[in-house]
Amino acid sequence: MQADTAFEPLRTKRLLIRRSRPEDAATIAEYRSDPRVHRYQGWERTDADSIRGEIQEMSRRSPGSPGGWVQFTVVELGGERMVGDVGLSVAEGEPGVIKIGYTIEPTFQGRGYATEAVGALVDYAFDALGAEVVRAYASAENAPSIRVAEKVGLRLVERFQGHDGAQRWFGVRYELRREERAESDL
Ligand SMILES: CC(C)(COP(=O)(O)OP(=O)(O)OC[C@H]1O[C@@H](n2cnc3c(N)ncnc32)[C@H](O)[C@@H]1OP(=O)(O)O)[C@@H](O)C(=O)NCCC(=O)NCCS
Repeated sequence: MQADTAFEPLRTKRLLIRRSRPEDAATIAEYRSDPRVHRYQGWERTDADSIRGEIQEMSRRSPGSPGGWVQFTVVELGGERMVGDVGLSVAEGEPGVIKIGYTIEPTFQGRGYATEAVGALVDYAFDALGAEVVRAYASAENAPSIRVAEKVGLRLVERFQGHDGAQRWFGVRYELRREERAESDL
């Protein structure tokens, strides 16, 4: 894995994926606080100040360096409307593994934006960072998230059970390995 200290925004057909900036915090806070978005996500604090603090903290990290998540804001090309965010993190103790996460603001869902942004992020993780494995975790109930993982080529490798206090939940781990990706390109 190599750290990308000079990240250049990623472009897809419709989207631009750039590092999140402190001024994005209010918009991110708004959709991250929406129960439909928050339901399956690990963020405990979704107020703008906390998110601004996280973005500032993350701005000190480079994609591909260990030690935590790096978040990117996804905007529409042209109009520059913010439609969501994606992130990546080197898995702790597994230096070749990149974990990814993704969120699209509810009014922009169902247009293929997550698939487009996450597809670009997966390519970036393999091609620019040199990842051996790209991994996504999801709640087993989170059908749209699982669908996005499948559409960008990840496959189910594990089902597991988690606990949240007395509450039990089921999770899934999806992965794509470098060699599988090379085979699918043949
Ligand atoms: C997961 C999420 C990012 C998807 O964003 P999106 O831009 O709507 O995704 P896309 O449009 O690229 O693709 C969504 C796919 O899920 C499918 N889908 C949506 N709702 C579904 C449901 N209830 N059951 C089954 N499939 C569903 C869509 O049909 C589409 O698949 P298709 O292209 O084969 O038809 C978005 O729903 C979200 O932000 N959810 C809340 C946050 C979250 O849970 N993030 C993931 C965990 S960290």
